[in-house]
Amino acid sequence: MTDSKIIIALDYAQATPALLLARQLDPKRCKLKVGKELFTAAGPHLVEQLINLGFEVFLDLKFHDIPNTVAKACQAAASLGVWMLNVHASGGDRMMQAALEGVDKANQTQTPLLIAVTVLTSMDAMTLQSLGITRPLSEHVLALARLTQAAGLHGVVCSAQEAALLKSQLGPDFCLVTPGIRPHNAQQDDQSRIVTPSEALRLGAHYLVIGRPITQAADPTTALNAILQEI
Ligand code: C5P
Repeated sequence: MTDSKIIIALDYAQATPALLLARQLDPKRCKLKVGKELFTAAGPHLVEQLINLGFEVFLDLKFHDIPNTVAKACQAAASLGVWMLNVHASGGDRMMQAALEGVDKANQTQTPLLIAVTVLTSMDAMTLQSLGITRPLSEHVLALARLTQAAGLHGVVCSAQEAALLKSQLGPDFCLVTPGIRPHNAQQDDQSRIVTPSEALRLGAHYLVIGRPITQAADPTTALNAILQEI
């Protein structure tokens, strides 16, 4: 177990570079995130390998389906021994409650944290409007986060820019996981609403998801250490 607040996004197309990076890192200093691309290519075996290397793993598969299917998927994910997994809050309260029941059924000694995606940071007000959602984006995020909390989940994925609002409305214990993090000297890449690591924590984020500033660095360990130094 580690109390590291940094979750490194292993956005790779295959297991080999993901394992190469993991072997350079210290599981006491960071956690790892496996998303749809890597999981689809490398499967549960890779997740087990990362756990066996001592890492806490966030399995970022963002399930969104009928309650029964999501419950079974969450049970299977939790059975791998991951530290955290997620669903889409837009799936509704019945789906989220079913997800929680699925996680409990996995019967792990350490129950994984189950969080929900509110509104993807790639979506803007126009996208929401095109889906028939006319309230302001931050109101929609807050409503979905409230639904998530009421369903009994542990927290949400959100932009650091929404963290302060969510913390004030939902309390300090509701877990906020924020991507879109960039240290001062890092490239912005395709992220638009970026926040530095220390600012994200100040705004109330509990965990920071960081990908390219670490994975694409000439020396990922040095890049991670610089971020740990900053926070
Ligand atoms: O490389 P970078 O730091 O931009 O990676 C961010 C990670 O967080 C990626 O794995 C991306 O899929 C994920 N993510 C995100 N925005 C969200 C949810 C997840 O950037 N709203």
